[in-house]
Amino acid sequence: MTPRRITIVEVGPRDGLQNEHVSISTADKIEFVNRLSAAALPVIEVSAFVSPKWVPQMADAADVFKGITRRPGTRYTALVPNLAGLDRAIAAGVTEVAVFAASTETFSRKNINQSIEESLVTYKQVCDRALAAGLRVRAYLSTAFGCPYEGEVAPQIVADLAARLVGLGVFEVAVSDTIGIAHPGQIPRVLDAVLARVPVSEIALHFHDTRGTALANVLAALPYGVGTFDGSAGGLGGCPYAPGAAGNLATDDLVYMLDGLGIETGVSLPALSEASAFIGARLDHPLPSRYAQAVKHS
Ligand code: HMG
Ligand code: MG
Repeated sequence: MTPRRITIVEVGPRDGLQNEHVSISTADKIEFVNRLSAAALPVIEVSAFVSPKWVPQMADAADVFKGITRRPGTRYTALVPNLAGLDRAIAAGVTEVAVFAASTETFSRKNINQSIEESLVTYKQVCDRALAAGLRVRAYLSTAFGCPYEGEVAPQIVADLAARLVGLGVFEVAVSDTIGIAHPGQIPRVLDAVLARVPVSEIALHFHDTRGTALANVLAALPYGVGTFDGSAGGLGGCPYAPGAAGNLATDDLVYMLDGLGIETGVSLPALSEASAFIGARLDHPLPSRYAQAVKHS
């Protein structure tokens, strides 16, 4: 049944900015996160404690965390790929982290330089240490709807990996369309398989909008009771190891649609628009969000 309330996980400062060519200053990242907090986003993925050699845009993760003002009611999270990343996150005062596995071997190797099985061993260590330290851990499952190197992925493989991630102790698996290839015809196939293995309350969906299907995918997923969707302010985003991956589903467009459906998010759309405009003014291209474009020209 369609939920009456949806939790939006704002990934713009991480998934959005990790792929921008323009260098964004640490001060501007902090201001962006603070503006997203002012829009009452319930969860903000602030940065990633990954190798700065692999993703230089996220090298200032600790400084961004140090600079932000935490709003009561908002959770602030970060990606961690290994124990070194977890230790950096804990030292920076982070209380919730996310690990990121893939559904396909080639993407796993290109993104984190490990096979899927190796990554699950790493993530077991990360989860054990994080949970013992009192942190919450989320998991992403990339390439769940298709892979830039291996094509379509069998839903049973996705379901099996999602269940294994839950077995590591994560509170939620974000089933992710890394390259924005999913379409509404595919959503039932993947969700039927995944929800046979994992309760819907532990599933989130993470769409990119490369082919313009992200909002339609949300609409197709709502009747299954999925209650958490990721978005990025202004539609920023991509993945440095997924050629052709465009921006994430724009949070602005998502909130506009959910408001229209009478589904609560708690997010202030005017304040979110201001946050999007703030970061948009620092980029070398227009924001992909259709809502943001409409606001700009109104
Ligand atoms: P590696 O080169 O195999 O690992 O990278 P390594 O252990 O040999 O380390 C290489 C160097 O990095 C060493 O430094 C380490 O100390 C250092 P050196 O000795 O050469 O001076 N290092 C670190 N430094 C800081 N923090 C760390 C860390 N780990 C190692 N955590 C590794 C393996 C996993 C580290 C690397 O592949 C990596 O960082 N990958 C991250 C890639 C990434 O961030 N991708 C984008 C995010 S995923 C995504 O966008 C998808 C998602 O949005 C969902 C979806 O849409 O599908 C989540
Ligand atoms: Mg992503």
